[in-house]
Amino acid sequence: MKTIYVCVGSSCHLKGSYDIIRALEKLIKQNHLENEVELKAEFCFGNCTKPVSVKIDDKGPYSVDKDRVEDFFRQNILGDN
Ligand code: FES
Repeated sequence: MKTIYVCVGSSCHLKGSYDIIRALEKLIKQNHLENEVELKAEFCFGNCTKPVSVKIDDKGPYSVDKDRVEDFFRQNILGDN
């Protein structure tokens, strides 16, 4: 089981945290990973100047913007590089 944490602190929220969450929810469903990947909202990872901060378990924070969310998911969750 992997957990993806998406920052919903004020800076990331303004940069589209909820769009990232919706996109990740959709990708999890499309790939039938509902029992393997869990999505959680968290507050501020101290990485506020970059695009939306995301962690996977204890890895990251990664900076993910809307256009890169699918690539991010493929690389870090599905594991194709
Ligand atoms: S608000 Fe997201 S890292 Fe600070």
